[in-house]
Amino acid sequence: KLPNYNTIDDAVALLKSSRNIVVLTGAGISTSLGIPDFRSKETGLYSQLEKLGLGISDPQEVFNIDIFREDPTIFYSVAKDILPDTKGLYSPTHAFIAKLQDQDKLLTNYSQNIDNIEANAGIRPDKLVQCHGSFATATCQKCGYKVQGDTIFADIKAGNIPRCEKCIAALRSNGSVKRKRSYNKSTSKKTRRRSTDDDDDDDGQYDIPAAGVMKPDITFFGEELPDEFSQRLVKHDRDLVDLVIVIGTSLKVAPVSEVVPYLPPHIPQIYISRTPVSHINFDIDLLGDCDVIVAELCRRAGWNLEHPMLKPD
Ligand code: OAD
Ligand code: ZN
Repeated sequence: KLPNYNTIDDAVALLKSSRNIVVLTGAGISTSLGIPDFRSKETGLYSQLEKLGLGISDPQEVFNIDIFREDPTIFYSVAKDILPDTKGLYSPTHAFIAKLQDQDKLLTNYSQNIDNIEANAGIRPDKLVQCHGSFATATCQKCGYKVQGDTIFADIKAGNIPRCEKCIAALRSNGSVKRKRSYNKSTSKKTRRRSTDDDDDDDGQYDIPAAGVMKPDITFFGEELPDEFSQRLVKHDRDLVDLVIVIGTSLKVAPVSEVVPYLPPHIPQIYISRTPVSHINFDIDLLGDCDVIVAELCRRAGWNLEHPMLKPD
C-alpha cells in the first residue's frame, strides 16, 4: 500500500476526500437504542438465548433454515423479541451514515441488520443493501407465496405460527374443509347449529397444519443472501469505492465478512467497534463506542452531526 493510514486524523482526511464510501454495518450500531447485538458476552442475543435453554445446542440455530423447517416454534419463540419496532428512533451512528449520504459521499450502506432502522435515519433505499433481508416481506415455505411482512406481525406477537393464506384457501377449495366440518358435526351440536357460514373463521383450523409456514424474509443460516448483495458489490461498487468503513460488526458471518477482502487492496479501510477483529486487517482501527467515535470524526471534519443522544460541545 502506498500511503500509510493509521490515525484518527488520517480517518478524518479520508472522510473529507472520499466520494464513494462503502459503509458496512452490524448490530453494534443499534445497541445504544437498547437493541441487543448477537455475540457480545452477557448482553448479546445469543448469550440471552443460551440461558433460555430452547433445546438447541447452539443459539445460532434459532436462525438455521433446516431447524426452522423441522420445527418453526424455536424461531417463533424468539421472533416477537426481534420484530422491528416503529418508534422511529435511530442512533448517532445511523445519523452519521445519513450525513455521508447527504454530502453525496455514500456509495452503499451494506447492513446486516434486520431492525430497519436505516429508514428512520433517512438512509435511502437506493443506498441501502439489507444483506440479511428484513421483516418487510414474508414467504410461504411450502408454495412460495409472498406477503407484506406486517400481515404476520399479529401472529408473531401472539406467539402463533403464521400460516399461508393461499395454502389455506387451496385446502378449502379442494374439500379438506368439508372433512373437518363433518368431524365437527359429529362431535358438537353447538358447532353444527352455529356453523352455517362457509367462511367461518374456525373452519380452517383443522386444516391449517397442512398449510405452509410463513417465514419473514430475513436470511437464515443455510439460505442465500438477496441477489442485490453480490450484484451491487461485484457489478457496481467494486469499481467505484474509494473508502470502506466497517462499523459495529464482529465480521463472523460469511459472505458479508468477505466484502472487505474482496475489495481492491489499495482502498483504505477503517474499522469502528468496541471489539477488535484479528482475522481481517484494517488500515485504521478506531476502537470504542461507535456513536462517540463517529461524533468525534464529524467534529474534527467540521461537520455538524446533530442527534438528541449527543451532547452539544
Ligand atoms: P455481532 O453481535 O456479532 O457483533 C457486533 C459487534 O459490535 C461486536 O464486535 C460488538 O463488540 C460491537 N458493538 C456492540 N455495541 C457497540 C457500540 N455501541 N459501539 C461499538 N461497537 C459495538 O453482530 P453482527 O456482526 O451484526 O445474522 O452479526 C452478524 C450476523 O450474525 C447478524 O446479521 C445475524 C447474526 O447471526 C443472522 O441472523 C442471519
Ligand atoms: Zn403457501
